[in-house]
Amino acid sequence: MSIAGKARKITTHTLQEMKAAGEKITMLTAYDYSLAKLVDNGGVDVVLVGDSASNVMAGNDTTVPMTLDHMIYHAQCVVRAVDRSLIVVDMPFGTYQGNSKCALDSAIRIMKESGGHAVKLEGGSEIVDSVKRILTAGIPVMGHLGLTPQSIYKFGTYSVRAREDEEADKLIEDAKLLEASGCFAIVLEKIPAELAVKVTQAISIPTIGIGAGDGVDGQVLVLHDMLGITMDFSPRFLRRYLNLSEQIEGAINQYVDDVRSGDFPNDNEQY
Ligand code: KIV
Repeated sequence: MSIAGKARKITTHTLQEMKAAGEKITMLTAYDYSLAKLVDNGGVDVVLVGDSASNVMAGNDTTVPMTLDHMIYHAQCVVRAVDRSLIVVDMPFGTYQGNSKCALDSAIRIMKESGGHAVKLEGGSEIVDSVKRILTAGIPVMGHLGLTPQSIYKFGTYSVRAREDEEADKLIEDAKLLEASGCFAIVLEKIPAELAVKVTQAISIPTIGIGAGDGVDGQVLVLHDMLGITMDFSPRFLRRYLNLSEQIEGAINQYVDDVRSGDFPNDNEQY
């Protein structure tokens, strides 16, 4: 049986063993109780309470407005639902950059108030002090390199990162630094597949890609995108497994028609 199949609960160590055995890691986002339960039941290894909640749950254009209280609320909902998966919670913009004491305080709040199992931070050398300080409290840290959406106002676009040598070299150095600092895994977002392979071979902790090709140790997608709930976002890397928005709208149209026509409720649907 596979390592993930054998595990009653997925831990950071399980992910490390999976990389060593060449077993692919699966990760999806979740932000609420009902969908987190389905994701966990579906057998996903890691549930990410992503700050993409800002886009898909709150309707913001960026992840910048998310607060620590927002993230803790979403993480609490997910924690109540999940039995098996490892739960990683995004640290929101402004709670860890440039101040390692603030980073530690924020991470402790997430762990204590939500019950999540680990935190994720965006960035490389700029945030290494925060990563190290969070780790002193025994809190596992996942890194995130490449397209880091909290820096959207610096990048100016959500296009592919690190196409040029200078940025690619920095990304490899950052990945090594995050590993040396104690991160247990790194998300690689929207970078050339060839670069993602180099990073994956350069470090011994797992890489989990989104738009980073097939040469990484695992894959992550935003749940609402892969289920086809969000339809206004169609990057090349996204595979839609369902077209839920069409099905949900169809069901709602039908309900509206049934109520208006008097078909609902029928004799069996009343007391
Ligand atoms: O917030 C999020 O959903 C993420 C994934 C895109 C990796 O960070």
